[in-house]
Amino acid sequence: MKLTKVEKIPLADIKLGEEEVAAVAAVLRSGWLSMGPKTGEFEQRFKEFLGIKHAFAVANGTAALHLACEAVGLKEGDEVLCPALTFVASANAILYTGARPVFIDINGPHDLNLSVADAAAKVTERTRAIMVVHYGGYPCNMDGVRALAAKYDLKIIEDCAHAPGAVYHSQDGPQMAGTIGDVGCFSFFANKNMTTGEGGMVVTKDDLLAERIRIMRSHGMTTLTWDRHKGHSFSYDVVARGYNYRLDEMRAALGIVQLNHLEEGNSRRRELTLKYWASLADLDQIQAPFHHGPEGSSYHIFPILLKDRELRAPFMAALAQRGIQTSIHYPPVHTFSYNQLFWPRGFDYQLPITEAVAHREVTLPLFPTMNLTQFQTVIAAIRDFCR
Ligand SMILES: Cc1ncc(COP(=O)(O)O)c(C=O)c1O
Repeated sequence: MKLTKVEKIPLADIKLGEEEVAAVAAVLRSGWLSMGPKTGEFEQRFKEFLGIKHAFAVANGTAALHLACEAVGLKEGDEVLCPALTFVASANAILYTGARPVFIDINGPHDLNLSVADAAAKVTERTRAIMVVHYGGYPCNMDGVRALAAKYDLKIIEDCAHAPGAVYHSQDGPQMAGTIGDVGCFSFFANKNMTTGEGGMVVTKDDLLAERIRIMRSHGMTTLTWDRHKGHSFSYDVVARGYNYRLDEMRAALGIVQLNHLEEGNSRRRELTLKYWASLADLDQIQAPFHHGPEGSSYHIFPILLKDRELRAPFMAALAQRGIQTSIHYPPVHTFSYNQLFWPRGFDYQLPITEAVAHREVTLPLFPTMNLTQFQTVIAAIRDFCR
């Protein structure tokens, strides 16, 4: 008997075509590989896309978050409100500055974004900022976050790793994720809605913050190699202890092409998400967060919650057996052992909703090139498991 190969259905997949190959090849042929005109063009295109004054391409999303934390002036002894249901990079970026994250609970199984009420309850005289994470590309309650920030004079950093192209419908009208707070941070890691392999972007409307980000991205230097190459400048000063968080020209070229396809990819993600919601609606063992939420997501991932935490391992194993890759977003940051290192004097880590929900979460495959057969295979595997 001839065995048919089981098709593997990945959690995420990227679409790269001849356009990307040509863009990168053109950079290689140009002979200028480090940050220069392509990076400038990428930043310009990203600014236009978001409708924001400043954008700085950086080496990755974590570097973007670190620069944001530095730019708003975080330092030793400061506290930053931050959800625990995020990738560890959000919390790490705060720690790099000497400040400490104070973890905030989520709204509930219907909305995995941070609870503004819990954030308000955790403000102390040391709180300087709030880092919001638009989980899965679903925008947080930014009107609530802005009111809280205004009340306690907090800076707002938006972790938009999941949210390029997401739109928040605020009381003042629609606003792009990343442009609502003081600084917005994007990741172009390989599993993101648009990718440069590794890469990121920091955006802000504030001239002062922009100047600090520009300088800190490149060693605290006042001029860049490209400026000197073009004869715009012959020397430089160093005005701060900066970093090398620059992006290179190959990745910038890739980013320009990927940005052109972002909206098309996001709308395909939306179609698939609506289809998932419709196909899973009658299963009582499965809940779909954000299902009744507002429009405007960038639909980065498709999270579901199983009825019981004990079901998660057998559920993921059953799907894996059919070649379907699943994942968990996220093991909450406050449950990691190293957490004890930065709260040595103890901290009330009880985040009851995060804890109740996180253990039941599974992320299903979602990517723009997912075809009907792949989609139906996932649904059939879930239905068989739930029978
Ligand atoms: C929510 C969140 N924040 C930050 C990051 C860090 O981005 P990067 O991997 O580009 O450093 C990621 C992605 O991995 C993420 O998902």
